[in-house]
Amino acid sequence: MSLRTLLAAELNPIETNALLCGGIGPRPIAFASTVSPEGLRNLAPFSFFNAFGSNPPMVAFAPNRRGRDGTVKHSYLNAVATEEFVIAAVSHAMVQQMNVASAEYPDGVDEFVKSGFTPLPAQFVKPALVAESPFQMECKLHQMVELGTGPGSGLMLIGEVVAFHAREDCFQEGILHPDRLDLVGRNGGAFYTRASGPSLFQIAKPVGRPIGYDALPEVLRQSRILTGNDLGRLANSAELPAQMSAERRPGDATTSNELEQAIQTALQREDLAEAWRLVALRVVL
Ligand SMILES: Cc1cc2nc3c(=O)[nH]c(=O)nc-3n(C[C@H](O)[C@H](O)[C@H](O)COP(=O)(O)O)c2cc1C
Repeated sequence: MSLRTLLAAELNPIETNALLCGGIGPRPIAFASTVSPEGLRNLAPFSFFNAFGSNPPMVAFAPNRRGRDGTVKHSYLNAVATEEFVIAAVSHAMVQQMNVASAEYPDGVDEFVKSGFTPLPAQFVKPALVAESPFQMECKLHQMVELGTGPGSGLMLIGEVVAFHAREDCFQEGILHPDRLDLVGRNGGAFYTRASGPSLFQIAKPVGRPIGYDALPEVLRQSRILTGNDLGRLANSAELPAQMSAERRPGDATTSNELEQAIQTALQREDLAEAWRLVALRVVL
């Protein structure tokens, strides 16, 4: 597989932005609600967004300088002037209205009105909550970090979360469940990702220090059938079975290909014990 290498210094800001947005995705979307010093509401989405600490809870988003002319956005001006913002998560049910709120309306236009979202009073900050959002954070500006001065340069706003609001029905067994939240993420171009339904999957956290890829038998690592994910799942085992006893059972595969396929099938149904039993058979073949 050939690699395309691009030097950052030789790219213009539009090409750079396209690479960042395509290669870093899906990105969570912060629907940022702010008010001007005069109290006028503003609402806009930002996917240069994430959480960066939980004690104290810190989030950051980046209403950057416009790529066209280097001017700054209303969300930035409001948040810096008032030192407050609300960040609302964007669910799939909100995505078309959110898109309307991203349009460049003139100063003083209330995107709650333009996009049809419902403002609700927040408890600790002046900017409004977005009633339709399943998860929201009231934030006080902690720090503004300027990452350049030209068009498209970063203006990162770090906020300390003073209150979380989560829709009651989004909790399942103590966690905010992705199927209930049904959030969307942003990819490159006009692509979005829906983080619910069949695209969700779970992975068991490594317990202690897993054996690692380097501990896997060489024949497995050379396999043309087992994938990186198959090997990664085996490498995530807590320990190598003490003795790999290769006791054949009736119906066990006999060729290396069939055995590797059987290992793969066992891993797909999360039957690690059976996978390792078959690995023992494969090793002695
Ligand atoms: C899903 C989505 C994500 C966006 N992410 C960003 C971002 O991270 N940074 C940014 O500067 N603009 C981003 N934009 C564009 C802003 O939303 C847009 O410039 C908006 O008009 C800014 O509004 P304001 O001037 O009221 O703050 C995004 C747009 C969409 C639709």
